[in-house]
Amino acid sequence: MTQMPISNSFVIIVTVSLLVQLAVLGLLLYGYLLKRRLRFQQHGFIMAVAVFLHLTVVFTVMIPSFVLAIIPEYVVANVASATSVVSLIHASFGATALTLGLWFVLGWRLKGLKGCFKRKMYMRWTLIVWATSLLLGIVLYIILYWAALMG
Ligand code: HEM
Repeated sequence: MTQMPISNSFVIIVTVSLLVQLAVLGLLLYGYLLKRRLRFQQHGFIMAVAVFLHLTVVFTVMIPSFVLAIIPEYVVANVASATSVVSLIHASFGATALTLGLWFVLGWRLKGLKGCFKRKMYMRWTLIVWATSLLLGIVLYIILYWAALMG
């Protein structure tokens, strides 16, 4: 695997992004629990917080890091490498889940709870795709930075 040059400030930024991803995962679990308890408005609110928190990190950290480091260093260098495959699945699943999440939240604000009930099948798949993306984001962090932090 090509070794990416890593500065201290870069490690801090991606570690913050990792912590936010763990927090989003926690919000998804909590939001799901609220749905199980039939507290739909709170479920919608927690999912909306998860969507906007994740979107902030995607635009401030993940997209720049993807464009400036992951694509040139790993995807272009060897598209079939583990790092490249994990990062491409992580990014495409994350983008899909956030687009659908935004659609649910906007639908809720514009049309109320009625629209949410109609979309519950999509919500189930979104939760699975979103959680998979977050778990792969954690795997990516471990692959890329653990060696650098330990070394
Ligand atoms: C943003 C991402 C969201 C995710 C990942 C998500 C996830 C889920 C999941 C996994 C279910 C269970 C589906 C099933 O049992 O088949 C569900 C149901 C539901 N969600 Fe969401 N949800 C989201 C946003 C929202 C929003 C914004 C609202 C608006 C209040 C909402 C309201 C509901 C309602 C009313 C149900 C149906 C509950 C039922 O009939 O049992 N969800 N959601």
